[in-house]
Amino acid sequence: MENKVLEAIRSRRSIREFSKQAVSDEVLREIISAGIWAPSGLNNQPWRFVLVRDKEYRKELASLTHYKHIILAAPALIIVYLDEAEMYDSVKDHQSAGACIQNMLLAAESLGLGAVWLGQILNNKQLVNEVLGLEPKYDLMAVLAVGHPSHGNQQSHRKSLSDFILKEIGGSRE
Ligand SMILES: Cc1cc2nc3c(=O)[nH]c(=O)nc-3n(C[C@H](O)[C@H](O)[C@H](O)COP(=O)(O)O)c2cc1C
Repeated sequence: MENKVLEAIRSRRSIREFSKQAVSDEVLREIISAGIWAPSGLNNQPWRFVLVRDKEYRKELASLTHYKHIILAAPALIIVYLDEAEMYDSVKDHQSAGACIQNMLLAAESLGLGAVWLGQILNNKQLVNEVLGLEPKYDLMAVLAVGHPSHGNQQSHRKSLSDFILKEIGGSRE
């Protein structure tokens, strides 16, 4: 059975190598729009974004992570923040940010683009805010490097489903 959502979930890979082709404003906004349609506790929508294409800014941000080469190679960055002044519950707002980020990764995949969720740069979150001129109330969640994949050779693996299910209570497998 064809199921585009399941297909996108299964075929999405972290893309770390990009062609030089630019990402249009329209496509970038489409991706972010998918992000803001994520669920959030109390529909609080705590996410905020900074879009970066400028090469000089990318260079400065690249110097703040081990994954420098990815940030330099990606034509666009979607930088995801939580606005601490607008949060109502730390755990739930953070979970909402994760849902938003995953929506954007899937949207990029479905639009034929590639993206990777970069978290290591959070070790330098204050410096990232300084580069971007943002107040401390904006808490960095992730940098998404976005672009056109330069190849389709990415592989990934998952443990088997049974490794994750702690218990199954009720149902036909009892
Ligand atoms: C919270 C989080 C942080 C991550 N940080 C990085 C990172 O800093 N650099 C990187 O190359 N990949 C990063 N990744 C991507 C993971 O390495 C990747 O999702 C994982 O290896 C599984 O591969 P797949 O996404 O292709 O299935 C991160 C993913 C998550 C969810």
